[in-house]
Amino acid sequence: MKVAGKHFRTIWPDPETDGKIVIIDQRRLPHEFVTKTLVTAEDAFVAIRGMLVRGAGLIGVTAAYGMYLAALNARSSTIHKDMTAAGERLKSARPTAQNLAWAVDRVLATVKNIKDPDDVRQAAFAVASQMANEDARYCRQIGQHGRLLIGDIWQKKGKKRVNILTHCNAGWLAFVDYGSATAPIYAARDAGIELHVWVDETRPWNQGARLTCWEFQQEGIAHTLITDNAGGHLMQEGLVDMVIVGSDRTTHTGDVANKIGTYLKALAAKDNNIPFYVALPSSSFDWKLDKGKEIPIEERSGDEITTIAGLSKDGTIESVRITAANTLTRNYGFDVTPARLVTALITERGVVEAERSAIHAMYPDQASALGQFKRQGKVMAHGEKRKFDRWDSSHLLNYIILDEDGTRGRYAMARTLDVSLNGIRMESVEALASEGMIEVTLGVEEDLIDLIGRITFCKPEGDRFVSGVEFIKMSAEGRRVFRRYAEVFKRQATEGIK
Ligand code: MRU
Repeated sequence: MKVAGKHFRTIWPDPETDGKIVIIDQRRLPHEFVTKTLVTAEDAFVAIRGMLVRGAGLIGVTAAYGMYLAALNARSSTIHKDMTAAGERLKSARPTAQNLAWAVDRVLATVKNIKDPDDVRQAAFAVASQMANEDARYCRQIGQHGRLLIGDIWQKKGKKRVNILTHCNAGWLAFVDYGSATAPIYAARDAGIELHVWVDETRPWNQGARLTCWEFQQEGIAHTLITDNAGGHLMQEGLVDMVIVGSDRTTHTGDVANKIGTYLKALAAKDNNIPFYVALPSSSFDWKLDKGKEIPIEERSGDEITTIAGLSKDGTIESVRITAANTLTRNYGFDVTPARLVTALITERGVVEAERSAIHAMYPDQASALGQFKRQGKVMAHGEKRKFDRWDSSHLLNYIILDEDGTRGRYAMARTLDVSLNGIRMESVEALASEGMIEVTLGVEEDLIDLIGRITFCKPEGDRFVSGVEFIKMSAEGRRVFRRYAEVFKRQATEGIK
């Protein structure tokens, strides 16, 4: 996103020198824009623990680059051992964000069977960079899905300004680019939807006041800073149309850990009948924990509550104490919002109910690894759960059906019957085409590809519908992804699904 009109990511390899990773020191924002260079895994650990970098997505990608730096600095003879040790240390930097362990494990799994130390270093760098790109792409996709939800409210309000409330910073500073909770806001703005955001200050670290407001200023998003306690009152006054927050960890059953105070916003939203959305990439799902109660909640130093930092009159950043000396404190960093209070999750694959079988249906690859998907035999289509016959997950496509002006849509799933570069034939549990719904954007495997198709026919067959989709627009990336999908599909059709 933009800083003083120039595009930045939150982390990047130094273009001048190999083996250096550059980050933005977020402790100094919004008063100073300062970058720092990481050269060792320990630097990455310190940056995560000290919150120079923060937010689930960015913590994960910093850890991934930290693993690359561990490989780079390791002796060739002990490279795997050294990386494992660095991974343990990085994982201990902060407890709540799921992305941290996920990123470390993904780098370790990538290099596990590579023998040549130089190849290990190269592979670690490649996978860390891939994770950075993926993080940015997933947030952009979250934006496309979330934009439809904002567009829906905008239509219902007769195209009057949509008021969104957000807590903490799940913006681009918490990821590599775009942000999770903020991506739908940027995408809706780009689609011409008028909106305004209420930003919770988010004591004690003030991520909302310091970071989210700064991001919005840079991007020209209309916003107003409020105290953490004001949200409920604004909701009662009819000044909030929807809430969108991020997540540091979400169980595969839909319970959401996010910055402390999120739970209270969800309760207030429920009481006022206001939709409460959580935006997260799949890297923040915990596929092992069944209950939000089991998520480790970070406790931080009480100094964060007893003091406050800001810009002094002479232009330096200063910290002052706001309590009597020796005041006792407990400083919890996160809380858990139970799934029942969450209207839906916005992921890179689409909008999904915060509920086990719906989440599993959207991520059959993860769910089948858990051995739970087949047993449950359910898939969410348009908010309902019905049955498909076969469970070959690679043939399940996500798609969004858009209306004519592209501002409304819905998520559903279909099974691929036949595929070519010109079009696709698919089977779904509900009719795809109806009045006003003419286009389909398809997501293949984990990529949402810019691919627009026109439904050419949709006919009932038994309790299913078989539809033909003719592609009418495809980006170069979309073509590449789809060609790969077509190849995989053909191979599996000939060899049979394992
Ligand atoms: O303590 P932080 O700043 O690392 O916490 C992360 C957050 O900013 C929030 O909880 C956010 O809403 C989710 S992280 C994408």
